[in-house]
Amino acid sequence: MSVPTHGNYYGYYLKRPSVTDPRLALLPENTFSGKRVLDIGCNAGWVTCEIAQSRGAHKVVGVDIDDTLIRAAWKRRQVVWSLQKPQSSQSNKGNDLMDFEDLTRNASMEVTHLQADYFPASLQHSFGPLPIPPSKIRGKHAFPHNVSFRTADWVTEEIVEDANGYDVVIAFSISKWIHINGGDEGLRAFFRRVYSVLEPGGVFILEPQEWDTYKKAKKLNDSLRNSAQTLELRPSDFESILGDIGFSPACHLGTTGDGGFRRTVDLYVKQHVT
Ligand SMILES: C[S@@+](CC[C@H](N)C(=O)[O-])C[C@H]1O[C@@H](n2cnc3c(N)ncnc32)[C@H](O)[C@@H]1O
Repeated sequence: MSVPTHGNYYGYYLKRPSVTDPRLALLPENTFSGKRVLDIGCNAGWVTCEIAQSRGAHKVVGVDIDDTLIRAAWKRRQVVWSLQKPQSSQSNKGNDLMDFEDLTRNASMEVTHLQADYFPASLQHSFGPLPIPPSKIRGKHAFPHNVSFRTADWVTEEIVEDANGYDVVIAFSISKWIHINGGDEGLRAFFRRVYSVLEPGGVFILEPQEWDTYKKAKKLNDSLRNSAQTLELRPSDFESILGDIGFSPACHLGTTGDGGFRRTVDLYVKQHVT
């Protein structure tokens, strides 16, 4: 495997189990209900799929710089679909005759009654994943049609979904990698881009890595070591940088995770321009 200089770890969710991610449990209820969500640095898509499947999101896009991880994320989508409880025969009945409103209502009912991990994983291993029915049947805002993935360096490249904006942007455990690869200016540019794609009143959820965890990243290669030496900003400065850009003061939601993954999750709101 090549050196994970962007934090592009393979098997990340085997080290950081995330069938139900404890970071999402820290967020206010309804953070995602009916929302357009961008998950930056989605890795193999476990958190992205959970938001799409169980949190009532209208549409979730996961973006990652590493194409191998994005291919794993598409596979994860099908695995999650294959393990969930099938729709009841009642809610399946007559779907081909349903209009859009019926389908949307049906989809949100399903979120309430949905049971993830209904089938044992061994079934999927033995027989392969279940096919995904066309979006015409399930509705494009029901899982799994409400989640998609893109490969891009999101600090410097746009993805098509950016043009419509988002209600919620997530950056879990990625700020260190953007900071150390792009320097202080790269990180500021990242925060400005997040601001620019959010609707006014939209929410930015950030899980920054602590400064002492940068030590390990610096050892990955000379380029990261040299770049790290130029850094003047520290994670403790992020709140004031985000404030200067136009975000609210941080709402510190709490700390979760074990060992080296123990981190705080902060929520910022894009202020309405007066
Ligand atoms: C440590 S992992 C965190 C994964 C996930 N956000 C989580 O916390 O569950 C960081 C991820 O960010 C991705 N990444 C790093 N820099 C990126 C960039 N500029 N654009 C998109 N993805 C990036 C890496 O490939 C990696 O999958």
